Amino acid sequence: MTIDYKISDMLEKDLEEKDMKEALKNLVKTLRKKITHYTWVGVYMVEGDELVLWAWDGNAATEHTRIPIGEGICGLAASIGESVVVDDVSKDTKYLMCFPATKSEIVVPIIGEEVHGEIDIDSDKLAAFTSEDQSFLELLAALIAQKIEE
Ligand code: SME
Repeated sequence: MTIDYKISDMLEKDLEEKDMKEALKNLVKTLRKKITHYTWVGVYMVEGDELVLWAWDGNAATEHTRIPIGEGICGLAASIGESVVVDDVSKDTKYLMCFPATKSEIVVPIIGEEVHGEIDIDSDKLAAFTSEDQSFLELLAALIAQKIEE
């Protein structure tokens, strides 16, 4: 895949015109619809020492709607403030299972002066996420962080 500037333009516009939750809801829906290897898309935001699921799109709800920072792949990315890509979740002992069909996962922190949250994507394909996905999602996360800190 290549970076889809239409999605980043949409997000920038939404961040100006809508409240944060509505902008994030539109983002997760659009990402899942437009990018076929994104099977489940969620955005968690930091609330105290937990990550709380603010928006998601996928075939099923996750039971992990609150994740302590430090637990799972999500908690790891939030605690180190860096993107984490797992090519095969069955081989990662930190992985918290949500959906039996998930094979790979990417978590990108929403980070400015501090970590505000993260974008979490599961794929039913092994090693679905490339450095292009990572750069694209880091661009989207930077737009969200900028809005939070302005
Ligand atoms: N797999 C994540 C938990 C969230 S679900 O993917 C929606 C983790 O290991 O932190």
